[in-house]
This record gives sequence, structure tokens and C-alpha cells, in this order.
Amino acid sequence: MIFLSGILVDLVPFGDRFWANVPEWENGPAAYWASAGERMVLSHATVDRWRQHRQDNDNHGVLSFGMQTKSGTPIGEISLNWVSAHHRSTEIGISIGNPAYWGGGYGTDALLLVVEYAFEWLDLRRIIVETMALNERVQRQMDKTGFTLEARRLSYWYVGSSAWSDTLIYGMQREEWPGRAALVERLGLKPHAAPEA
Ligand SMILES: CC(C)(COP(=O)(O)OP(=O)(O)OC[C@H]1O[C@@H](n2cnc3c(N)ncnc32)[C@H](O)[C@@H]1OP(=O)(O)O)[C@@H](O)C(=O)NCCC(=O)NCCS
Repeated sequence: MIFLSGILVDLVPFGDRFWANVPEWENGPAAYWASAGERMVLSHATVDRWRQHRQDNDNHGVLSFGMQTKSGTPIGEISLNWVSAHHRSTEIGISIGNPAYWGGGYGTDALLLVVEYAFEWLDLRRIIVETMALNERVQRQMDKTGFTLEARRLSYWYVGSSAWSDTLIYGMQREEWPGRAALVERLGLKPHAAPEA
């Protein structure tokens, strides 16, 4: 079942095919960037417990999607976290687990799909994305999709090797959203061959 259909990716329920990749994704470089500097070592048993925890807690306030290529290869996850009906806001979390798919527009295609869903279906009015200052891919992604850098907190994340990184908070208000079609055109998002994974 395809929930949201993009140019390079489809967003689908985060089911078995995705969970099967989670140990590899969480023990690889994507987790360092997605968790702002943590280097976890996770067993399959821990990942199973996460899954159970999510199911038991009904994923309260989190709308999580599996991200797959148009040919159906699972590549990551994108979530609307802390969706608040009261404040009409959410924070997006995104991670492409397989680095072969970084820098090819996949994450931006997925981002545009969930921003459209958040503003135009859920009727939210504000979205934020938080990242560490070391994460240049996200900053480029925020700039090119029209998010505003709203805040910087200094020396916030421990990123290893005795170093700390600032945290950056990007936001977009609904009235700033030009619509997905306009951004797809502006960014020139087009289908292209998948990388050698
Ligand atoms: C962040 C992420 C979702 C972005 O998705 P993506 O598909 O890689 O993004 P895009 O390809 O659309 O855009 C990335 C931009 O960063 C640029 N970029 C790639 N590598 C870069 C680098 N090392 N330094 C700076 N910019 C870089 C790309 O050129 C591209 O810009 P362009 O479109 O102007 O060429 C993805 O890279 C990812 O999952 N990374 C690991 C986990 C992570 O960082 N999650 C976010 C936590 S907040």
C-alpha cells in the first residue's frame, strides 16, 4: 500500500520489510547523523523491543512512514513527531539508512511529501526540523526547500572525539509553503536511475 507517492520515493507503512533493515541502519553511519552524534551498537533483540514498544504505545503523536524507491527498495524512514492538534505543529524526523542513497534527492522528495501532508491534510500551521550544525546535508536541504533557520543553541550535541556541535532549529509556517508542485519544479526533481546499493 502506497500512502504518499513522490517522484523518487513512495511513503508506505513502516512494516516488516523496513524493520528487517533497522539493525543495519541503526548500526551504520545514518544513525550518527540522525541522532546528532550518537554511535549506538544495537542488537536485533533491542530493535525487536523498540518495535514492540512502538506497537504497545500506539505510536502516540508520531506518524511514521517507510521510505522506499519507486521500485520498492526500502531506504529509510520519515516521521511527523509530536504532532499536536492543539498547537497545530509537528517536528519532522528523517533518515535514509543506506548512505548510497544520500545526496540523490530522495530525502528531499520525501520531505516535500510529508510537508504537503502536514499542511494540506492534517491542517497544521507550523513544522520544525532540528539538526546538528555538523550536518551539512540537512542544512542544504532546509535552504533549498524554503525552511528558515530560527534558532541556534550553542555546543548542544556531543559528537565524539571531545567535540560538541551546535543545534539548529529550522521552521516553516504554513503561509510560507509554496506548494509541493512549485518546489518539485523549482528543484528540478526528476526520476533517475537508483545508485548501486
Ligand atoms: C539528510 C537526508 C535525509 C537528506 O536527504 P538526501 O536525499 O541526501 O538530500 P538531497 O540529495 O535532496 O539533498 C542533499 C543536499 O546536500 C548536498 N550534500 C551532499 N553531501 C554533502 C556534504 N557532504 N556536505 C554538504 N552538502 C552535501 C547535496 O549536494 C544536496 O544538495 P543539492 O541538491 O544542492 O545538490 C539524508 O542525507 C540522510 O538521511 N542522511 C543521514 C541521516 C540524517 O542526517 N538525518 C537527518 C537528521 S536531522
